[in-house]
Amino acid sequence: MNILVVGGGGREHALIWKMAQSPLVKKIFCAPGNPGISELAQLVPLAVDDIEGLYNFARENAIDLTVVGPELPLTLGIADRFRAGGLDLFGPSEAAAQLEGSKSFSKDLMLKYSIPTAAYAAFTERDAAVAYIKEQGAPIVVKADGLAAGKGVILAQTVAEAIAAVDEILLQGKFGAAGDSVVIEEFLYGEEASFFAFTDGKNILPLASAQDHKQIFDADQGPNTGGMGAYSPAPVVTDALYERIVTEVVQPTIDGMAAEGTPYQGILFVGLMIDGGDFKVLEYNARFGDPEAQPLLCRMKSDLVPVLQACARGELTVSELEWHDRAAVCVVLAASGYPDAYPKGDEIHGIDAANALEGVQVFQAGTALRDGKIVTAGGRVLGVTGWAETIEAAIQKAYGGADLISWNGMQMRRDIGQKALRRR
Ligand code: AMP
Ligand code: GLY
Repeated sequence: MNILVVGGGGREHALIWKMAQSPLVKKIFCAPGNPGISELAQLVPLAVDDIEGLYNFARENAIDLTVVGPELPLTLGIADRFRAGGLDLFGPSEAAAQLEGSKSFSKDLMLKYSIPTAAYAAFTERDAAVAYIKEQGAPIVVKADGLAAGKGVILAQTVAEAIAAVDEILLQGKFGAAGDSVVIEEFLYGEEASFFAFTDGKNILPLASAQDHKQIFDADQGPNTGGMGAYSPAPVVTDALYERIVTEVVQPTIDGMAAEGTPYQGILFVGLMIDGGDFKVLEYNARFGDPEAQPLLCRMKSDLVPVLQACARGELTVSELEWHDRAAVCVVLAASGYPDAYPKGDEIHGIDAANALEGVQVFQAGTALRDGKIVTAGGRVLGVTGWAETIEAAIQKAYGGADLISWNGMQMRRDIGQKALRRR
């Protein structure tokens, strides 16, 4: 098979690393990719939002399956375009991607199908939103309705802060059209987990549990990022919770999407808040998590390619994935200043030395090639995943690799995986 992967981050590098091990694969292309990916796939200089360009490339290059990493092309309808042209693509339609693209769409679905989530209300009028905030009190959560690159969520500790957030979103247009409407939501306490399931629109195939680390600094301090590290399995998701998440969230979400006439094909990402024996859905994403994909794919034993193809074709018959009986931990290495403005173009040292370690794999994200050297080109630059029999040993592997890598101002969290250790 010829495969085209759309994207160029750590998630796509990990997907390609895994698919390259499949005996079914002849050649992998990646648009736009990155220098790490170029060792495994042929890079195609097309942007992820160039839907027509990607479609034409797939047609002209006999691509058997296109796998979409990030949400942007999905919300732009890449799946609809490919399917209309008779090409197999892994990822949801534009209508189904609203599960990520519109918070009010996902909230309405959860309410209608009794999927546990925080109490909420959506507003387009400032005064009604303010009245609701005053009635509910603080802490309270204010979210821009549309895609805001993870920055559209304000965890307000006071009523005044919540009102200021509403003003920024609705009156000052801080998030553009993504902020034409606000969702105001109950503040949830607990520990977050990321739950993933492959689906063909009807049948589901859940993945192993995982946990991300959203904040930039150790002990979950500082602003939210795209994710600073992840591990799998996540002991916060006990076997009992795992079963309940499948039956009370994943299956009703997929059934509900089908009943609404917007069947969801691809990978469903459920962000959960877990508090003791209970959980609520924080959000859905229409794509694989990054960095979660990195440790998950390093643990996956099953061949990924037939699973993705079956989802794309609406004929998923596999009912269980096989996993290596080991833990995997990914530590993200980020540029100084991230998640705010950061410099680019710093030369990175030590990637090969880290990759030479047994049980360590470096996935590249924000990197570029300059004069034959790999330099920084993004906020999250690399992910170093280590695997071993236990989570302690996997943490040591990942940090053993990360400590061999350096550039000017490189930052990483030092406590990835500690929550898992505390739960044993
Ligand atoms: P979201 O994009 O909706 O997942 O929100 C981003 C992050 O904000 C989540 O990963 C949580 O850390 C936090 N968050 C979102 N909603 C809530 C909530 N209702 N209560 C507490 N924290 C939340
Ligand atoms: N790591 C969380 C995400 O991919 O959104």
